Amino acid sequence: MTDADQVREVQARDDQAREDQSREDAVEAALDKLDLDAKTRLLAGQDMWSLPAVPEIGLQSLVMSDGPIGVRGVRWTADDPSVALPSPTALAAAWDPALARRAGRLLAQEARRKGVHVLLAPTVNLHRSPLGGRHFECYSEDPYLTGAVGSGYVKGVQDGGVGTTVKHFAGNEAETDRFTVDCVIDPRPLRELYLAPFEAIVANAHPWGIMTSYNRVNGTSMTENRYLVNEVLRAEWGFDGYNVSDWMAARSTTGDIEGGLDVAMPGPATVYGPALAEAVRAGEVPESSVDAAVRNVLRLAARVGILEGAPAAVAEPPSGIDGQALARELATRGFVLVRNEDGALPLDASAGRTVALMGAAARDARVLGGGSATVFPERIVSPLDGLTAALPQGALTFAVGADPSEELVPADQGFGLRAVCRDASGAVLGEGSLPSGQVQWIGDDLPAGAAYDTMASIEVTGTFLPRESGEHAFGTRGLGAFTLAVGGETLWEGVQEMGDEADPFEAFFGAPSERGRATLTEGEPVEVSLTYQVPDMTALPLKAIMFSLLHLAPQRDADELIAEAVAAARAADTAVVVVATTERVESEGFDRRDLALPGRQDDLVRAVAAANPNTVVVVNAGSPVELPWREDVAAVLLTWFPGQEGGAALADVLLGDAEPGGRLPTTWPARFADAPVTEVLPVDGRLEYREGLFVGYRAYEKEGIAPAYPFGHGLGYTDWAYESLEATAGTVRVRVTNTGTRPGREVVQIYLAPGEGSEGGAPGAAVERPASWLAAFAGVEAGPGESVEAEIGLPARAFEIWDETARGWRRIGGAYEVRASHAHGDTRLTATIDVA
Ligand code: BGC
Repeated sequence: MTDADQVREVQARDDQAREDQSREDAVEAALDKLDLDAKTRLLAGQDMWSLPAVPEIGLQSLVMSDGPIGVRGVRWTADDPSVALPSPTALAAAWDPALARRAGRLLAQEARRKGVHVLLAPTVNLHRSPLGGRHFECYSEDPYLTGAVGSGYVKGVQDGGVGTTVKHFAGNEAETDRFTVDCVIDPRPLRELYLAPFEAIVANAHPWGIMTSYNRVNGTSMTENRYLVNEVLRAEWGFDGYNVSDWMAARSTTGDIEGGLDVAMPGPATVYGPALAEAVRAGEVPESSVDAAVRNVLRLAARVGILEGAPAAVAEPPSGIDGQALARELATRGFVLVRNEDGALPLDASAGRTVALMGAAARDARVLGGGSATVFPERIVSPLDGLTAALPQGALTFAVGADPSEELVPADQGFGLRAVCRDASGAVLGEGSLPSGQVQWIGDDLPAGAAYDTMASIEVTGTFLPRESGEHAFGTRGLGAFTLAVGGETLWEGVQEMGDEADPFEAFFGAPSERGRATLTEGEPVEVSLTYQVPDMTALPLKAIMFSLLHLAPQRDADELIAEAVAAARAADTAVVVVATTERVESEGFDRRDLALPGRQDDLVRAVAAANPNTVVVVNAGSPVELPWREDVAAVLLTWFPGQEGGAALADVLLGDAEPGGRLPTTWPARFADAPVTEVLPVDGRLEYREGLFVGYRAYEKEGIAPAYPFGHGLGYTDWAYESLEATAGTVRVRVTNTGTRPGREVVQIYLAPGEGSEGGAPGAAVERPASWLAAFAGVEAGPGESVEAEIGLPARAFEIWDETARGWRRIGGAYEVRASHAHGDTRLTATIDVA
């Protein structure tokens, strides 16, 4: 560092300290002016997404929104579209914190456009089991990679002056019984695996918020977890942001406030507000606890620039970022090429070459996972759209081949729908357009003119243009009284009652019900209508309307579809098969039961591969699926949920305009049974993390099981020679040469393996450790024939274990093998270091 740099750095630190102080002063001044009722009101949602404004102290209403691949805004509607980036698994697959930071900056720009101050993201729970329903929404099975990507993301969002809530703190690795499950996790795995990403992000990126999860950890609900929140997160790690409950997670006024929960969401009915003021007056809670929470909220408000008199943390947020271009770039950077026999990819697209594309998801792309992560992009580029645009006319054919959607889904393809709200006399109160047959109105998010107390019915109505002739099935999801009509004829009139398993999110995640069928003709539009009687909601804490009009196209004979695809594959130079999971497979709200591709997709791939040796399989899934035919095809490209520009990115990569830049952030098992954790159902309300430290590659290595594709694996379009490795306990230097014919990016991965005698710590006290673990990584770029050196710092934590007895981290000295690797288990160079 030059002298001038040093001066600048000191100056920047001083400026920062002055600004922090001036925000703290403004926070204290504002706090002084609030009485108990105003303070407790500020800790409770006023509606689904915001806190109340307090004009007396110059505080505007603080608005929060999901997260993590886009910013939905406060409305669940297509009227207000959002850029949809690739799934978090895809972002992690880029192994590039700087890229995650760029994604974060775009999201901040989106948040500002929509008047959102805090993004409910990132999700940094670990890939403990591939069954986890929100696996696609988390980054990795490895805590270090998760922390690195999450830190980049948080920095990026906050560069834009928008807050983050790192979630779900902690132990939310699965969805089953998530409101009540008690995750039983030993101190070492808790610290070394599940808390580690949160700790790293607090240290590296200084997040302005955290979200505590629904579940319990070791017996205590996370919103009431004094130990993990007050002692670990705040006292030990120095977190100074606000702590918001997951939606409807806050269940105890005194328990939550004493457990360090600052804000209870959503509102207006919460355990805070008047109930908290009451508890203070009754002497059950000291007012100082309320003050501490209010301080955290005001500090956040100051940072995002909505507290008068306090300087916003970012005066000039970055702007003008092209969301479409970034979504496309991110997608290519996250695609992982796991198999590429004889250079099958990139495709030879010279004149006269033909491509047969197949798979239902090639036409109806799955670009994002389900649940609160859903946003509504302005456009979706499917693989069919992307390849049609990129290939010469006549070079591409399409056949469905196999359609995995055997269940009814919210009416979407071919439907143009709107919702009409009427009062008891039938007069129209308001109307709104719908992105699909799914109505999802929460709190005040109603079409203009509509109100809960006057609305008697809601009709989802519009036209449907069938793509196929035959028997179309229609159905509903949600509770209440419905009338369903197609082509002017009533198909069903009835009431859906709440089942035995009363789940507050039944209407969101519940199973679809078929209600009737109509025989329709391809290309001939019909009117459809689903009328819902609005129930009395006066007694409900949160007013919401949730129901769906569902549809399933005629199911063509599966063998016939495969035969059609095989004929197309035979006639083409290359066959590209897109296989995918469905919305009933990967979503928030439930876990998976197995990793099989739904429907006849495996049969389709086998049949096509037998017909055409140049078969490329594109896997459109947010998390691992079994690929039993993987050795029989020429190439396998994992595209995750690739976001709105996925099809354009796919064309870029298949045709070689871009390199598939990804490396696996999680191990892909050969068979589901090989996964380290194959059961996520709680037993008697408890989910025991029995595998301890051994999740992901740590477990495969321990058990000696070869996965289909190891952690860190990914081929790209060029080759790399590892030339030299120099290592100390602080820094590793690796020289690599691009020995291929194209420019590329290599992710140099550094694993540590404890050598003989290093596991000991104190003599005789054997310490259980994985055989190896990721310590650090760096991305390098080089042109053909070029060499480049990666200088990679080794974090001290890589040599430490958690010592619960001493309540601290303990460095384990001794000999370590440092492995410079292309992937876990694909070690190219080693060195031995002695660590004091
Ligand atoms: C999810 C959170 C989300 C919140 C608000 C919850 O059900 O678990 O991740 O931020 O809803 O949509």
